[in-house]
Parts: sequence; structure tokens; C-alpha cells
Amino acid sequence: MFVKYPEELIEEIRMNNDILDVVGEYVKLEKKGKNYFGLCPFHREKTPSFSVDNTKQMYHCFGCGKGGSVIQFVMDAENLDYIEAIKLLAEKARITLPEGESEEEKKRALKTQEIIKINTDAARFYYEQLNDKKNLDARDYLQKRKVSEGVIKKFGLGYSSNEWNLLYSFLKSKNYSDEDLISSGLILAKKSGDGYFDRFRGRVMFPIFDLRGNVIGFGGRVLDDSLPKYMNSPETLVYNKRRNLYALNFAKNSGEKRIIVVEGYMDVISLYQFGIINTVASLGTALTESQGRILKKYAEEIIISYDADTAGQAATMRGLNLLDDIGCNVKVLLIPKGKDPDEFIKANGADAFKKLVDNALSLVEYKIKVLKSQIDTTAIDGKISFLNKAADILSKIDNSVEQEMYIKKISQEYDISQESMFAEVIKRVKPKGNYKPAIKIDSTKIKPVGNKTKSDENNLVHYERIILSLLSIDNSLYRKIEDRINLEFFTLEENRKAAEIIFTKIKDKKGIVPAELLNLVSNESANNFASMIQGECNFEDNLRAILDIIKKIEVIKLDKRQKEILNMISSSGNKEDVDRLKEELKSILIQKKSM
Ligand code: CTP
Ligand code: MN
Repeated sequence: MFVKYPEELIEEIRMNNDILDVVGEYVKLEKKGKNYFGLCPFHREKTPSFSVDNTKQMYHCFGCGKGGSVIQFVMDAENLDYIEAIKLLAEKARITLPEGESEEEKKRALKTQEIIKINTDAARFYYEQLNDKKNLDARDYLQKRKVSEGVIKKFGLGYSSNEWNLLYSFLKSKNYSDEDLISSGLILAKKSGDGYFDRFRGRVMFPIFDLRGNVIGFGGRVLDDSLPKYMNSPETLVYNKRRNLYALNFAKNSGEKRIIVVEGYMDVISLYQFGIINTVASLGTALTESQGRILKKYAEEIIISYDADTAGQAATMRGLNLLDDIGCNVKVLLIPKGKDPDEFIKANGADAFKKLVDNALSLVEYKIKVLKSQIDTTAIDGKISFLNKAADILSKIDNSVEQEMYIKKISQEYDISQESMFAEVIKRVKPKGNYKPAIKIDSTKIKPVGNKTKSDENNLVHYERIILSLLSIDNSLYRKIEDRINLEFFTLEENRKAAEIIFTKIKDKKGIVPAELLNLVSNESANNFASMIQGECNFEDNLRAILDIIKKIEVIKLDKRQKEILNMISSSGNKEDVDRLKEELKSILIQKKSM
């Protein structure tokens, strides 16, 4: 897996990115025993089976089987390939990568800083413009929308004047280069090639902050009904609308267990002004998985409150499913009479809105409500169709108590007999397998060779992996077994290559740790190794375990050879050959007896 960079460098990068810190950016972890647990970001679950072992610097999910070092984690979480993950982690750890790319990376880092500076200066400029007497109509507009002075300050609202290049002149006076100004997305080059102009003109400006409070982009709204109503910063080195949420920098500190997701800047701002500060907006796009993972980290419950129009409804359903899939507890807040949260709270006040929050529908309730609105249940056909589709939805609830509760509630609410609802749901429920958590395993209880579902080859690969895992857990085992195994001992090419590196490292007194082993193999194998290292490889006596496994491997190999010899004997006409084979067979039988 070391496609491009030397392993030492990869290892340095790995060691400089503490797994708790990195995973902690995506998953809320809680210490239980010696490990940390949280909700798996890679599959849908509501009770934590995702564990991080700080000492081993590894993660493993007992639910979906994903696991690995910090590198695999970043690959999975950010959907990156190996090299991209290394680059990202190197950047985090401020480790320079070789091959001339260092220059590029350095430049990139400098440029990132520069764009944030430009954005910050621009935000200040827009803010001051709002106080300028020339721009009273912008002031009036915000006043008309009842945005308070305090909230203008808090959110850093501003105004971009109607002139063509006021911001450009201001930023030039601060000595920014045209190239960097273009990269910030705030300034555009004229088509004619002779000059530059401001992207945002005549708009109320909403700075977008990242979690640390850096200004990473802007949204700008016109003061009237002209179109486009909003304009937003383009994607830049610092702004990625798929990975950020408007106002999360405030919402994450609200001290609330739930976060409300709304559509618009103005919704967030109005709610904030009414004291509802745990609100974010999804920046004019459908919720993405990255946003979902971030939300999952900061909130125990997420309440979606999108507009009630058809587009809003579709977006709600998509967002709900997405959040549910990554294991968030989601609810839907429905606002009566097609209003958006901003309009509602201004008309009805904070308490009325809080009531809506408390009455938010669960995912199941919302789905059934939508279903009901789509089917005319006055006729028998419709009623049956509704019953079937509702049963589909109810059958997917994995907690049986919860399921029963819903069946009762919904059959009552929609006037359907409880018995038939139960019957339909039961028909659809498949039995589920359970996973077993890590437990101390006695070395005498290693999975038997005669695992009928696995071929000898599979068993060999499995045992080889246990050996490699154990060596990485306890380097001192190597000296005790080095005369029993060599590289040829490993049947799988990947294992052999990993063994070569492990042996050399141990012999050179450099040592190797489990997380490092995971980076020597393919991603898929890394999952397997991680689960082994955190589960199966918790032996009471590692030496006894590794010796047992070596013996098991030897037995498999001898058995295999024995079979081959018997085949050859029965098919060979050459007496010399047969005699030689018989000698070998005898020695095999003796070896097996002495084991
Ligand atoms: N949006 C956008 N571009 C548009 C329209 C909308 O990026 N042309 C995004 C903005 O982030 C906006 C959100 O989608 O805040 C919701 O749009 P909408 O409901 O139309 O706007 P409101 O926030 O309700 O704005 P207002 O109340 O000022 O009309
Ligand atoms: Mn609105």
C-alpha cells in the first residue's frame, strides 16, 4: 500500500495524527473501560459499537466490521484514496511531503491563509459599509425584517454597495495580489481583460464561518424581489459548501442536545434573535453526508425544519434518510400554513416555536404522514395500499418495543385494526444476526482448523494474519518463534510482504505497532486485521497462542502434502518415485505424531 511515499514517512504522519483527535472530529467518543466508544460513522446504528483503542491507535466497528488506523479512517470518512488521505493527514500534522510537491503544498497552505485574511478583511469592510450613511436602504431593509443591532453584530452582517469595485479598491489598498483576490471568489476579472470588479454588489452580506470562526465565504441577498435572490461564494480553497453548515460555530456551543436544521440564513438569524440558538442552515444545498456526520457529532438529536413546499418536502425526506442512514436520531418539525421558521417565529413568538420543536415528528411518524397525504384511504383499495406501505415502513424499525409502540399508535391514528397491522409488519421482519463484542479469548479456544465453511486456504490466511497481528502487538514474540517461521511460511503474498517488513523492523530494533501493520496491507485486509487485533487477538498468553497457531498451520500444510503424496503414489508408475514418496509420507506421519 506504500504507493509513493516511504513507509517511515507514512508512519511519521500516522504517529503525528492522534487517532482520538482525528476520529473525534467526526464521532463523539466516550470512554468505556480502556477503549472509547461512539456511534459508527460508517453504518447506521443507534447504540455505539464503534470503538477506538487509544493505545493501539486503531478503530474498529463491531457492527459493520470497518476498522484500521487513522489513515483508513480518513479514507473512509472523507472518501479519499490512500495518497489523498496521507496528504490530508500530513497537512494536519504539518509534515512536509517530498517530491517537489512540498513546494506545491506549502504554496497551497500559504494561499489558504491568504484567502482567509482576504475574507476577514472583506467581512469587516461590508460591516462598515452597513453603517455608512450612503447605505441607508440596507439598514432600512434589515430593520424592516426586524433584525436587531446585536444580531447584526453577532453574525457580522454587512452590505456590499452597488458600485462596481469598491471592495476591490479596498482590498488592493491592503496589498493583496490580483491572483489571490480572484482565488477568494470575491473579485472577478472583466471579460475584456482590463480590470477587476466585485462579485457581490447591492446585497446584504452574510459571512459564513467555519467551526473555528474563520470567515470562509459569503452569502448575499438582494434588498428587493429581484433575482437571483441569493448569491453565494463559489467553492474556494477554504470554502466547501458540502462540508460546512451556516452558524454551526454558534449552535455547537448552545449547550442543547439537539440541533435544528433550517434552509435559510434568515431563518437561523431570526430564531437566534428569539433565543433559539441551536440552529444551523445547510447553505442552499441538500444535506450531504459530511454535514450529517458533523451534525451527528454535535447533537444527540437533529430536527429538520424545511419549508413545507414540495421542494422543501422532498429535501426533508432526503435529509431525513441520509441522517438516519448514518445513525442520527432525526425528527421533523412541521410549520403550519406553509410558513418558514423566520416568518413563523416573528408572527407567533418563541414559545409557539418551542412547542413545535417539542411536537416534532419522528422519522416513522413523518413517513407515514407523508404516505397518508399521498393515498386516498376512503376507498378499500387505498386503505389496503396504505396498510401495506405503512407496514413496510414499520417493519424497518429495529427496536421491537419501539416498533410495537408505533404499530399501536399508528393503527389508532389512522383507524386500522391493530391485529392486521401487526400481522403485516411481522410478515416483513427478517431475523437478524448479532455481533459479539470483544472478549478475552483463551488460546485453547482458537477457531478450529476443521472449520467446514472455510477452506484450508482461508484458514491459512486467517492464521497467518493472527501471527502478524500478535507480532505487532508484542514484538518480543519474534525472537521466540524466529526459528519456526520464515517468509516462505506465509502463503498469501500480502502477508508475506507484511511479514518481511515486520521481521526487518523488529530485527533492526525499530519495532512495529498494530496501527502500522494496518498500513502495510490493502484496505479490505486492514478491516480484517483491525477486528482481529481488537477482538480475537486478546489472548491470555500470547506466546502460547502464537505457538498454537504455528502448529495449526504446520498441520494444515502437512495434511495437504500428505494428500498430494497419496494422489501421486496412486497415479505414478515409476517405482523409484513411489519409494521416494513413501519415504516422505513416513516422515510426515512421524512429524504429525510428534506434534
Ligand atoms: N439560496 C441560495 N440561492 C438562491 C436561493 C436560496 O443559495 N438563489 C439558499 C440560501 O442559503 C437561502 C436558502 O437557500 O438562505 C433558503 O432560501 P429561501 O427560503 O428562498 O430564502 P430565505 O432564507 O427564506 O430568505 P428570505 O427570508 O430573505 O426570503
Ligand atoms: Mn424566508
